[in-house]
Amino acid sequence: MRLPSPDTACTPADLRGFFYDLYEDAPKPLRLLSAARPYVCPYDRIVPFVPQGARVLDVGCGTGALLALLVAIERIAEGVGCDVSAPALSFARGAAGRLAGGERLRFDHIETIDGVVDAPFDVVVMVDVLHHVPEAERQKVVAAAARRTAPGGVFIYKDMTDEPGGRRLAHTIDDLIFSHELVRQVSPEAVERWAAGEGLELVASEYLPRLVYGHVLRVFRKPADGPNAGADA
Ligand SMILES: C[S@@+](CC[C@H](N)C(=O)[O-])C[C@H]1O[C@@H](n2cnc3c(N)ncnc32)[C@H](O)[C@@H]1O
Repeated sequence: MRLPSPDTACTPADLRGFFYDLYEDAPKPLRLLSAARPYVCPYDRIVPFVPQGARVLDVGCGTGALLALLVAIERIAEGVGCDVSAPALSFARGAAGRLAGGERLRFDHIETIDGVVDAPFDVVVMVDVLHHVPEAERQKVVAAAARRTAPGGVFIYKDMTDEPGGRRLAHTIDDLIFSHELVRQVSPEAVERWAAGEGLELVASEYLPRLVYGHVLRVFRKPADGPNAGADA
């Protein structure tokens, strides 16, 4: 397997071969899409917010690409991914099984957000999930992620732009083709409000254009003396 080095900048060129090899047992179209994903999804901007040695929860992990990457670059001590899609998790487990250090990853199937493991993590990530969640349930999903962020930990939220224009349209068409869903993008201001309501502080905010897409990245920190202080994982 082609592995990214721990010193990698996680650019698309660093990662495409790794992701192609990681999903060796997947159908060719999924392998090709996985190899192309770093060109679309800004892993290079997400990874730096994950502290060395962190315990990470990935809500809506899909095929587990981000957790696998974090293990491959020796960034995290442990990772738990959860998703409502059993087939995606099966590829995630297969990938972890081929990866040195993959035993540090676990993938849980959940029926709803209430099923996410109830423990605090140094880092909670949620990448391109919320726009798939019905609008009435989005606040609850953000609250669930916030509550699982340990005191002093971070919640990393990444989703597609909701700004009207070509980049939002490109994403809408993409999800129509690949997910057969007509999605409604998420307002980052709403996410900021919901996170603030859970006691999180916004520490980083970026807009990232990539190819024809636009990405919204928000990083929130839970104060060290906030809710869950003193709780064990
Ligand atoms: C676009 S994929 C992103 C997967 C992964 N986070 C990544 O960036 O590669 C969206 C994922 O969200 C999952 N998902 C949708 N609704 C969810 C929910 N309510 N709870 C957990 N996962 C959900 C889907 O099954 C899918 O795997």
